[in-house]
Amino acid sequence: MENLKTQVAIIGSGPAGLLLGQLLYKAGISHIIIEQRSADYVAARIRAGILEQVSVDLLHKAGVDENLKQFGIPHEGIEILTNGLKHRVDLSSLTQGKQVTVYGQTEVTKDLMHAREAADLCTYYEAQNVQIHDFEKQQPYVTFQKDGQSFRLACDFIAGCDGYHGVCRASVPQDKIKTFEKVYPFGWLGVLADVPPVSDELIYVQSERGFALCSMRSKTRSRYYLQVPVTDHVEEWSDERFWNELKSRLDEESCNNLVTGASIEKSIAPLRSFVTEPMRFGKLFLAGDAAHIVPPTGAKGLNLAASDIAYLSSALIEFYQRNSTQGIDEYSEKCLKRVWKAERFSWWMTHLLHRFETETEFDHKIKQAELNYILDSNAGLTTLAENYVGLPY
Ligand code: APR
Ligand code: PHB
Repeated sequence: MENLKTQVAIIGSGPAGLLLGQLLYKAGISHIIIEQRSADYVAARIRAGILEQVSVDLLHKAGVDENLKQFGIPHEGIEILTNGLKHRVDLSSLTQGKQVTVYGQTEVTKDLMHAREAADLCTYYEAQNVQIHDFEKQQPYVTFQKDGQSFRLACDFIAGCDGYHGVCRASVPQDKIKTFEKVYPFGWLGVLADVPPVSDELIYVQSERGFALCSMRSKTRSRYYLQVPVTDHVEEWSDERFWNELKSRLDEESCNNLVTGASIEKSIAPLRSFVTEPMRFGKLFLAGDAAHIVPPTGAKGLNLAASDIAYLSSALIEFYQRNSTQGIDEYSEKCLKRVWKAERFSWWMTHLLHRFETETEFDHKIKQAELNYILDSNAGLTTLAENYVGLPY
C-alpha cells in the first residue's frame, strides 16, 4: 500500500474536476485527481458546446482561455423555428449586451488537460475500485488501485466530480440524501459532421415531427440533433435517414441551405432532470453531473458544473487563505439555488419544444399559445434570453 497526502482529493477528471484542479493550483492549494478512465477516453468524449459568459469568465480566471479566445465563436442570438417560421431571439439586446460562446466541451476538456500537463499536476488515470472514506469525520481518505498497486490518499476534503454514475454520491448514507428526478420519454440523436452549419446562429426547431436542433462547432463542423424515441438504436439511423428526417423538420430556406455529409460521430442520449440535496456532506462536496443533470435543451450542463466549481473553489480558497468556513457552510445552498433555476429553465425549454406522445390536442394548443406568447412579447423574450445567456453567480 502506497500512502499519499494532499489537501483536496478530486474524484473524476471531467470538466468539473479539471477546472477545480486548475483553480486550486492557481491558488497554491495542493490536490490530486483520481479518474477511472484513460486520459485518451476523457479527452475524446463528445458533449455539448455552448458556454455562458460567466463560464467564459471563469475559464479566463483559470488561465485556460487561449484557444477559447481564438476559436470560440460568440453568438448574440438564436433562432426558434415554429409553425414553419423562424423567429430570432436577440440575446444581446435583450440582456444588455450579454452573449454565449460556441466552443465544444471536448475542447474545454483538452485545454484543461494541457494546462495540467504543463504544470506537471498529479492525476491517476485508470484508477480502479475508487472508494471514499470517513468524509463525515476529521480525516477523510480515498483508496484505489492502479496497475496492481494499492493507494491510500489522506486529504482534508473530497470533491466528488465523478459524474452521474460516480462513486461519491453513491457513498452517502441513504437517510442523509434526497434526490429529485424526471425522466423524459425520448432521447436526442446527435450527429457531428464536417459540413458548414446551415445557419450562422443555432436553430431550435419545434415541429409536428418533433424537436430538432441545428448547432455547430466551427465554420466547417456542424452538430445536429433530432428528438427520437428513447428505444431507438443508432444502427437504425443511417446518415441518409438522419438528413431526410432533419429536412422534414426544417423550413424551406434551411432545407435549401443544409449541406449534408458523412457523420463523424452519431449517438443517442436519453434526457433526464435530476437534483441531489444537499450537495455537501461533511468534508465531501458533490459538483457537476455528480449532483445534478439537466436535459440538454437549455445548454446548461457544462455551465452548471462551472458555477458549482466557482462556488467550491472560492469556498476552499477562503478556508485555506483566511481560515473561514463560511463558503464551505454556504456551498450547498448557493449551488442549489442556481441549479434549480437552471433545472426549471431546461425543463421548460424541453417541455415547450418537444412533442410528447401523451399530450392531448388541448395540451398541444396551449403549448403553441405559450410559445407564440414568448416570441411575440418583449417580456417573454427577455425571460428566455436572460436564462439562456446564464443567470449571474
Ligand atoms: N472513480 C473515478 N472517476 C470516476 C468514477 C469513479 N468511481 N466514476 C466516474 N468517474 C469519472 C468519469 O470517468 C468522468 O471522467 O468522473 C468523470 C465525470 O465527468 P463528467 O461526466 O464529464 O461530469 P462533470 O465533470 O460534472 O461535467 C459535467 O459533462 O455530462 C456533461 O452535461 C454534462 O456538460 C456537463 C458536464
Ligand atoms: C451543442 O452544440 O451540442 C448543443 C447546443 C445547444 C444545446 C445543446 C447542445 O442546447
